Amino acid sequence: MRIVILESSQVVAQRSAEIILDQVDRSPESTLGLATGGTPLGTYSELVRAVEQDRIDFSGCTTFNLDEYVGLDAEHPQSYRYFMRKHLFEPAGFDLDHCHFPSVDFEDILASCDDYEALIEDHGGIDLQLLGIGTDGHIAFNEQGSSLASRTRIKALTAQTRKDNARFFDSIDQVPELAVTMGIATILDAQKIVLMATGLGKAEAIRATVEGPVSASIPASALQLHPKVTVLLDEQAASLLERADYYRDVELIQRRLETSVAPK
Ligand code: GLP
Repeated sequence: MRIVILESSQVVAQRSAEIILDQVDRSPESTLGLATGGTPLGTYSELVRAVEQDRIDFSGCTTFNLDEYVGLDAEHPQSYRYFMRKHLFEPAGFDLDHCHFPSVDFEDILASCDDYEALIEDHGGIDLQLLGIGTDGHIAFNEQGSSLASRTRIKALTAQTRKDNARFFDSIDQVPELAVTMGIATILDAQKIVLMATGLGKAEAIRATVEGPVSASIPASALQLHPKVTVLLDEQAASLLERADYYRDVELIQRRLETSVAPK
């Protein structure tokens, strides 16, 4: 894992946006895996700004979102389909026909989970996957105890996740109990992964993800098994890392190498 400790959440947003812009610049028909939640909002604002400045064109990209709540329709302001349209897809000019979500149509949920996996595969897999992290170390809606070999499926949300996400709803009772989520193995299939975390509330989950053992109890720790993961952290989210000084040294060397021999 490449651990990058940055001075603020604003810089985390800028750095994550730079990685996505670089990907799409090199390959305008990239397949992007996208996340929701408060953390990627800054990233998405940066991407929208880049479009407004004519620096990039996302119309050739295909996207796959990590997850969606069961029981909310696409027009519900807290559905992830609505969130993505509002914060990224419409203002940044994505082709909505190429923006995919796991289906949450209850009648057909088992078959549609397999269809989502097949659709990702048909597109040649995900080139770059963006991730946030739950306070308990979950990624997407792979709650604690999720199999490290899991694929897209329906999951019951934990009380902690529902409590954390209640801030987006009028009350906790309105937070759905179920979601459809990419599995951990689905996420690990991506070519490159960027995990972002900001704020003290994520510090313990990040410590366990980066420096703890690989364990289904901390689903994000499975990222240790992937060869190309960049972890973008602000100082607060990095505050419990024992090897923080080492990561800073490595990053300085890495940046120096990249700026002197950067292939373009
Ligand atoms: C939800 C989402 C995750 C996200 C997490 C953290 O559980 N399913 O994809 O990473 O929330 O969200 P936030 O960035 O708001 O802390």
